[in-house]
Amino acid sequence: MRLSLPAALCLASTVASFAVDDHPWRAPSSSDHRSPCPLLNSLANHGFLPRSGRNITSEELIGALSASINLDPSVAEGPTALALTTSKTGNPDTFDLDNLDQHGVIEHDASLSRADTVFGDNSSLNLTIWNETKSFFDGETISVSEAGKARIARIRSSAAINPQFSLLEGDQQSSLFETAFYLIVFGNGTEARTSWVNIFFEQERLPYAEGYTPAATPIMIETLLDVAGKVAAVP
Ligand code: HEM
Repeated sequence: MRLSLPAALCLASTVASFAVDDHPWRAPSSSDHRSPCPLLNSLANHGFLPRSGRNITSEELIGALSASINLDPSVAEGPTALALTTSKTGNPDTFDLDNLDQHGVIEHDASLSRADTVFGDNSSLNLTIWNETKSFFDGETISVSEAGKARIARIRSSAAINPQFSLLEGDQQSSLFETAFYLIVFGNGTEARTSWVNIFFEQERLPYAEGYTPAATPIMIETLLDVAGKVAAVP
């Protein structure tokens, strides 16, 4: 089915108002579990995932990623399977968000907004580190070049101060995907809206109130690989 632009925009605004009305943002309570992933935390804060951040099944996670940001289930399957390998719930079919802070599964050094494991808390937003990343974003939009340079700068800073620094091939791939993801979800893969990216990292909120709507067509692996390749090529 092909939609005209007005019809597609109308559909997008219907999806957005559904999400805003049915998925209001609420800050987590002190007993809710959260992860090193700003997106999964945002989904829990909007109730796309259990607000408790506990006992999440693969069906719930894949469904939440589709309903919230229109990530194609085929893209979500791999990281979801990896997430389940971190399970400490006693049920291998579920995981809690904080299980994802296990170093070396998906969690890695040189994050854009979190400290390295060797320094303690590798999961919650670290403003010193995030401010370093943000210093590369000086306009209304973030280009692939700025995002790529911010990523490389974090790798260099982390390597300079972390005596146990490590970023294996799989970690580098994850890091590239993470930068590509925010460029795609909060932009068009070529540039992202700076204010939306800031809200996402700083408040772990999807910026519906500021005009964000999910992609009109599902985000596919080809797009992710294409943007990750462009980020990797930034000198
Ligand atoms: C099943 C799906 C997903 C899982 C299991 C997952 C898990 C994780 C984990 C464990 C990290 C921490 C990596 C680190 O040490 O920095 C992370 C980081 C990140 N994730 Fe996700 N994620 C998923 C999907 C997504 C999606 C769809 C987005 C789209 C915006 C996203 C955006 C990010 C970003 C931007 C970071 C980097 C945070 C930083 O470097 O400070 N994630 N994710």
